[in-house]
Amino acid sequence: MKLAVAFRRKLGNFAVILPITLLKMKVYLDNAATTPLDPEVLKTMLPFLENEFGNPSSSHQFGRRARAGIETVRRRIAASLNCTPAEIIFTSGGTEADNMAIHCGIFDAGIKHFISARIEHKAVLSTLERYADRGLIKLSFVNLTEVGHVDLNHLEELLREAGERSFVSLMHANNEIGNLTDIHAVGTLCRKYDALFHSDTVQTMAHYRFDLKELPVDFVTASAHKFHGPKGVGFLYARNPSQLQPLIVGGSQERNHRGGTENLYGIVGLGAAFERAWAHMDEHQRHITALKNKMRKLLEEQVPGIDFNGCANQSLYTVLNARFADCSNAEMFLFMLDIEGVAVSGGSACNSGATTGSHVLQGVYGMMKNTSVRFSFSRFNTEEEIEYAADKVRQLCPVPA
Ligand SMILES: Cc1ncc(COP(=O)(O)O)c(C=O)c1O
Repeated sequence: MKLAVAFRRKLGNFAVILPITLLKMKVYLDNAATTPLDPEVLKTMLPFLENEFGNPSSSHQFGRRARAGIETVRRRIAASLNCTPAEIIFTSGGTEADNMAIHCGIFDAGIKHFISARIEHKAVLSTLERYADRGLIKLSFVNLTEVGHVDLNHLEELLREAGERSFVSLMHANNEIGNLTDIHAVGTLCRKYDALFHSDTVQTMAHYRFDLKELPVDFVTASAHKFHGPKGVGFLYARNPSQLQPLIVGGSQERNHRGGTENLYGIVGLGAAFERAWAHMDEHQRHITALKNKMRKLLEEQVPGIDFNGCANQSLYTVLNARFADCSNAEMFLFMLDIEGVAVSGGSACNSGATTGSHVLQGVYGMMKNTSVRFSFSRFNTEEEIEYAADKVRQLCPVPA
């Protein structure tokens, strides 16, 4: 007995919290932030972490094997996307790939007018704002519809009235609200006005099929950790990139497009993750869509005053952004969900607290007075997890006063 009391004193509150925590499910529903590494992908990376350590630029056999590992991935990705291997440039991820595309538009193509949207990822938005602040480009923003889609008529107006060649940067799927842009329509408009078109496809690459011969885009981007690959690696697709100057200078790697020793095991992991996603895409899409629909239905049935951000029809199947009726305790809500084992992220734009809020929700809806939570799903989630998470949301969500 004395021992138990001493143990309790030593552990303090943990003595209570620990057993409760152990009983709880752990439900990861923040897959738009990052996805867990697929164990099968890890297996393909291990030889390159252990034995195949050569520098891909070395001409001896160690280097040649490393080079072969990278070039095989490049060839296979290019074959799936229907482009040439030379058009795939490996990067440190989506942010760098987006930066490279914009850099290319300014410094290689000499474009001075850029068109984008206020709800782009910061990898695009901050990059464009930086160049605009330095006076290198003029930045125009396209209007959005009431559910956050790009207004194509306004885009055409901006292109027509630019009076010079433009560069359009519009993402395929919004990472917060999940809206899918019709990039075929945007690209067709860009072709009509001889504009270059970059689409941030970080949330959709390896989740949807792209035929880059047929799709009127000049740049798309990818990040392996969004499709169960490793972090810190991605790629830029650039149409006919022979003139593309490097953003990162210092070596002739990536056919002179990006200096620095390649992230060998990262690229191998990216390749394996991409191939697995590509091979099983329809099956994964069906499974994840069913989870998203189930979550939406359970929340609609059980949570008073709930609504959803973004467009329900033209939406990324991995993302559901829910809006709760009361924002008084937004941070606490997310914290309690976390304590209960449910990991989600807050697109909270509550104007009563210290949070600055989501620039996406602000861009679409103005200042939000609601608590918003992004649930994002992967093929590793189960129906049981969705039921558990929905139940915890029902128990903990802020209710209208
Ligand atoms: C739409 C979008 N673009 C770009 C990025 C940045 O990718 P990375 O984390 O690989 O730099 C992300 C990641 O959150 C994203 O969701």
